[in-house]
Amino acid sequence: MWFGRFLKSSIGKKLIMATTGLLLLLFLFSHAAGNATIYMSSEVFQSYADELHSHPLIVLVFSLLFLAIFLVHIGVGLYLFYENRQVSNSRYNVSTRVVENSFASETMPYTGLFVLLFLLVHISGFTFSSGDVPISVTVKELLGSFFYGLFYIVSFVALAIHLSHGFWSMLQTFGINHPRYNYVISKLTLILPLFFLILFAGIPLYFMTGLGASY
Ligand code: HEM
Repeated sequence: MWFGRFLKSSIGKKLIMATTGLLLLLFLFSHAAGNATIYMSSEVFQSYADELHSHPLIVLVFSLLFLAIFLVHIGVGLYLFYENRQVSNSRYNVSTRVVENSFASETMPYTGLFVLLFLLVHISGFTFSSGDVPISVTVKELLGSFFYGLFYIVSFVALAIHLSHGFWSMLQTFGINHPRYNYVISKLTLILPLFFLILFAGIPLYFMTGLGASY
Protein backbone atom coordinates (compact mmCIF):
# COMPACT_ATOMS: atom_id res chain seq x y z
CA MET A 1 0.00 0.00 0.00
CA TRP A 2 1.35 3.45 -0.91
CA PHE A 3 0.72 4.82 2.59
CA GLY A 4 2.76 1.99 4.17
CA ARG A 5 5.63 2.72 1.75
CA PHE A 6 5.31 6.44 2.50
CA LEU A 7 5.56 5.75 6.26
CA LYS A 8 8.60 3.54 5.78
CA SER A 9 10.46 6.09 3.67
CA SER A 10 12.72 8.58 5.40
CA ILE A 11 11.10 11.59 3.69
CA GLY A 12 7.64 10.26 4.63
CA LYS A 13 8.54 10.20 8.32
CA LYS A 14 10.17 13.64 8.09
CA LEU A 15 7.05 15.05 6.40
CA ILE A 16 4.86 13.60 9.15
CA MET A 17 7.13 15.16 11.80
CA ALA A 18 7.10 18.54 10.03
CA THR A 19 3.32 18.57 9.45
CA THR A 20 2.40 17.46 13.00
CA GLY A 21 5.05 19.89 14.33
CA LEU A 22 3.44 22.75 12.38
CA LEU A 23 -0.02 21.85 13.75
CA LEU A 24 1.35 21.72 17.31
CA LEU A 25 2.97 25.10 16.73
CA LEU A 26 -0.41 26.53 15.68
CA PHE A 27 -1.90 25.11 18.88
CA LEU A 28 0.90 26.78 20.88
CA PHE A 29 0.16 30.17 19.25
CA SER A 30 -3.55 29.95 20.08
CA HIS A 31 -2.85 28.71 23.65
CA ALA A 32 -0.30 31.50 24.15
CA ALA A 33 -2.83 34.10 22.93
CA GLY A 34 -5.46 32.79 25.38
CA ASN A 35 -2.99 32.61 28.28
CA ALA A 36 -1.75 36.14 27.58
CA THR A 37 -5.10 37.37 28.96
CA ILE A 38 -3.79 36.31 32.42
CA TYR A 39 -1.56 39.42 32.31
CA MET A 40 -4.69 41.59 31.91
CA SER A 41 -6.76 40.37 34.90
CA SER A 42 -8.33 37.27 36.42
CA GLU A 43 -11.74 38.45 35.08
CA VAL A 44 -10.49 38.69 31.48
CA PHE A 45 -8.82 35.25 31.71
CA GLN A 46 -11.90 33.71 33.37
CA SER A 47 -14.26 35.07 30.71
CA TYR A 48 -11.92 33.72 27.98
CA ALA A 49 -12.00 30.25 29.66
CA ASP A 50 -15.80 30.42 30.14
CA GLU A 51 -16.31 31.41 26.50
CA LEU A 52 -14.15 28.43 25.43
CA HIS A 53 -16.12 26.03 27.60
CA SER A 54 -19.45 27.30 26.31
CA HIS A 55 -18.64 25.26 23.17
CA PRO A 56 -17.98 21.80 24.69
CA LEU A 57 -18.23 19.91 21.38
CA ILE A 58 -15.63 22.11 19.68
CA VAL A 59 -13.34 21.80 22.74
CA LEU A 60 -13.74 18.00 22.70
CA VAL A 61 -13.01 17.69 18.95
CA PHE A 62 -9.92 19.94 19.22
CA SER A 63 -8.68 18.08 22.35
CA LEU A 64 -8.95 14.71 20.60
CA LEU A 65 -7.30 16.10 17.46
CA PHE A 66 -4.48 17.57 19.54
CA LEU A 67 -4.00 14.24 21.34
CA ALA A 68 -3.86 12.30 18.04
CA ILE A 69 -1.40 14.78 16.47
CA PHE A 70 0.75 14.76 19.60
CA LEU A 71 0.85 10.95 19.80
CA VAL A 72 1.83 10.65 16.11
CA HIS A 73 4.54 13.32 16.60
CA ILE A 74 6.02 11.47 19.61
CA GLY A 75 5.67 8.00 18.06
CA VAL A 76 7.31 8.84 14.73
CA GLY A 77 9.90 11.04 16.49
CA LEU A 78 11.01 8.22 18.79
CA TYR A 79 11.06 5.81 15.85
CA LEU A 80 13.31 8.20 13.87
CA PHE A 81 15.59 8.56 16.90
CA TYR A 82 15.85 4.75 17.19
CA GLU A 83 16.55 4.43 13.45
CA ASN A 84 19.24 7.15 13.55
CA ARG A 85 20.92 5.42 16.47
CA GLN A 86 21.06 2.16 14.52
CA VAL A 87 22.73 4.01 11.64
CA SER A 88 25.20 5.87 13.86
CA ASN A 89 26.19 2.58 15.55
CA SER A 90 26.89 1.06 12.14
CA ARG A 91 30.45 0.95 10.79
CA TYR A 92 29.27 2.60 7.58
CA ASN A 93 28.05 5.74 9.26
CA VAL A 94 29.19 8.92 7.49
CA SER A 95 28.29 12.13 9.28
CA THR A 96 26.67 14.60 6.90
CA ARG A 97 25.07 16.81 9.50
CA VAL A 98 25.19 20.51 8.82
CA VAL A 99 22.92 21.59 11.66
CA GLU A 100 24.07 24.81 13.35
CA ASN A 101 22.63 24.20 16.80
CA SER A 102 23.83 20.68 17.52
CA PHE A 103 22.98 20.78 21.26
CA ALA A 104 19.29 21.33 20.46
CA SER A 105 19.32 18.72 17.67
CA GLU A 106 21.04 16.04 19.77
CA THR A 107 18.72 16.54 22.74
CA MET A 108 15.47 16.49 20.71
CA PRO A 109 14.15 13.18 22.16
CA TYR A 110 14.97 14.25 25.72
CA THR A 111 13.49 17.75 25.49
CA GLY A 112 10.48 16.21 23.71
CA LEU A 113 9.96 13.64 26.48
CA PHE A 114 10.30 16.40 29.08
CA VAL A 115 7.52 18.33 27.34
CA LEU A 116 5.44 15.12 27.45
CA LEU A 117 6.02 14.87 31.22
CA PHE A 118 5.08 18.54 31.53
CA LEU A 119 1.84 17.94 29.61
CA LEU A 120 0.85 15.05 31.89
CA VAL A 121 1.37 17.22 34.97
CA HIS A 122 -0.23 20.25 33.29
CA ILE A 123 -3.38 18.50 32.09
CA SER A 124 -3.91 16.69 35.38
CA GLY A 125 -3.55 20.03 37.19
CA PHE A 126 -5.76 22.15 34.91
CA THR A 127 -8.03 20.16 32.63
CA PHE A 128 -8.99 17.71 35.39
CA SER A 129 -8.99 20.29 38.19
CA SER A 130 -12.03 20.56 40.47
CA GLY A 131 -14.95 22.17 38.65
CA ASP A 132 -15.95 24.05 41.84
CA VAL A 133 -12.88 26.31 41.77
CA PRO A 134 -12.71 28.87 38.91
CA ILE A 135 -9.81 28.09 36.54
CA SER A 136 -8.38 31.61 37.07
CA VAL A 137 -7.99 30.79 40.79
CA THR A 138 -6.37 27.38 40.07
CA VAL A 139 -3.84 29.07 37.75
CA LYS A 140 -2.79 31.55 40.44
CA GLU A 141 -2.63 28.91 43.20
CA LEU A 142 -0.69 26.30 41.23
CA LEU A 143 1.73 28.56 39.38
CA GLY A 144 2.35 30.71 42.43
CA SER A 145 3.69 27.74 44.40
CA PHE A 146 7.49 27.56 44.25
CA PHE A 147 8.15 23.98 43.07
CA TYR A 148 5.22 23.85 40.67
CA GLY A 149 6.22 27.19 39.18
CA LEU A 150 9.86 26.14 38.94
CA PHE A 151 8.89 22.91 37.17
CA TYR A 152 6.89 24.98 34.67
CA ILE A 153 9.83 27.31 33.99
CA VAL A 154 12.25 24.38 33.45
CA SER A 155 9.67 22.78 31.13
CA PHE A 156 9.40 25.98 29.07
CA VAL A 157 13.19 26.09 28.72
CA ALA A 158 13.05 22.48 27.42
CA LEU A 159 10.21 23.47 25.07
CA ALA A 160 12.22 26.45 23.76
CA ILE A 161 15.29 24.26 23.06
CA HIS A 162 13.05 21.69 21.35
CA LEU A 163 11.41 24.39 19.22
CA SER A 164 14.70 25.99 18.19
CA HIS A 165 15.77 22.84 16.34
CA GLY A 166 12.26 21.61 15.50
CA PHE A 167 11.30 24.83 13.73
CA TRP A 168 14.53 24.86 11.70
CA SER A 169 14.10 21.18 10.81
CA MET A 170 10.47 21.72 9.78
CA LEU A 171 11.46 24.49 7.37
CA GLN A 172 14.19 22.29 5.84
CA THR A 173 11.70 19.45 5.31
CA PHE A 174 9.24 21.82 3.63
CA GLY A 175 12.10 22.97 1.39
CA ILE A 176 12.23 26.52 2.80
CA ASN A 177 15.97 26.85 2.43
CA HIS A 178 17.46 29.50 0.19
CA PRO A 179 20.54 31.72 0.67
CA ARG A 180 18.23 34.73 0.40
CA TYR A 181 16.08 33.61 3.37
CA ASN A 182 18.65 31.79 5.51
CA TYR A 183 19.53 34.90 7.53
CA VAL A 184 15.86 35.49 8.41
CA ILE A 185 15.40 31.76 9.15
CA SER A 186 18.37 31.63 11.52
CA LYS A 187 16.99 34.67 13.39
CA LEU A 188 13.49 33.14 13.53
CA THR A 189 14.83 29.91 15.07
CA LEU A 190 15.93 32.12 17.96
CA ILE A 191 13.04 34.60 18.11
CA LEU A 192 10.22 32.02 18.00
CA PRO A 193 11.39 29.90 20.99
CA LEU A 194 12.25 33.07 22.94
CA PHE A 195 8.78 34.45 22.28
CA PHE A 196 7.14 31.34 23.81
CA LEU A 197 9.69 31.17 26.63
CA ILE A 198 9.06 34.78 27.71
CA LEU A 199 5.28 34.58 27.35
CA PHE A 200 4.80 31.21 29.07
CA ALA A 201 7.54 31.40 31.74
CA GLY A 202 6.45 34.96 32.52
CA ILE A 203 3.19 33.58 33.96
CA PRO A 204 4.63 31.47 36.84
CA LEU A 205 7.17 34.27 37.44
CA TYR A 206 4.32 36.80 37.59
CA PHE A 207 2.73 34.87 40.46
CA MET A 208 5.92 33.61 42.17
CA THR A 209 7.41 37.10 42.46
CA GLY A 210 4.17 38.58 43.80
CA LEU A 211 3.76 40.87 40.75
CA GLY A 212 0.39 39.24 40.15
CA ALA A 213 -0.71 39.65 43.78
CA SER A 214 -3.75 41.73 42.80
CA TYR A 215 -4.71 39.38 39.93
C1 HEM B 1 2.14 29.16 31.95
C2 HEM B 1 1.77 28.65 30.80
C3 HEM B 1 0.45 27.93 30.62
C4 HEM B 1 -0.74 28.15 31.25
C5 HEM B 1 -1.09 29.21 32.28
C6 HEM B 1 -1.69 27.20 30.72
C7 HEM B 1 -3.02 27.12 31.08
C8 HEM B 1 -3.89 26.12 30.72
C9 HEM B 1 -5.22 25.95 31.22
C10 HEM B 1 -5.90 26.89 32.21
C11 HEM B 1 -5.75 24.86 30.64
C12 HEM B 1 -7.13 24.27 30.87
C13 HEM B 1 -8.10 24.88 29.93
C14 HEM B 1 -9.47 24.50 30.40
O1 HEM B 1 -9.79 23.33 30.30
O2 HEM B 1 -10.14 25.40 30.84
C15 HEM B 1 -4.73 24.31 29.78
C16 HEM B 1 -4.89 23.17 29.01
C17 HEM B 1 -3.92 22.67 28.18
N1 HEM B 1 -2.65 23.17 27.97
FE1 HEM B 1 -1.87 24.77 28.88
N2 HEM B 1 -1.05 26.42 29.79
C18 HEM B 1 0.27 26.82 29.70
C19 HEM B 1 1.26 26.29 28.87
C20 HEM B 1 1.07 25.22 28.02
C21 HEM B 1 2.07 24.70 27.11
C22 HEM B 1 3.47 25.27 26.93
C23 HEM B 1 1.50 23.65 26.46
C24 HEM B 1 2.10 22.76 25.42
C25 HEM B 1 3.36 22.40 25.38
C26 HEM B 1 0.15 23.50 26.96
C27 HEM B 1 -0.74 22.54 26.56
C28 HEM B 1 -2.02 22.38 27.05
C29 HEM B 1 -2.92 21.33 26.63
C30 HEM B 1 -2.61 20.25 25.61
C31 HEM B 1 -4.10 21.50 27.34
C32 HEM B 1 -5.35 20.65 27.27
C33 HEM B 1 -6.28 21.24 26.29
C34 HEM B 1 -7.59 20.59 26.47
O3 HEM B 1 -8.08 20.49 27.58
O4 HEM B 1 -8.12 20.25 25.45
N3 HEM B 1 -0.07 24.47 27.91
N4 HEM B 1 -3.60 25.10 29.85
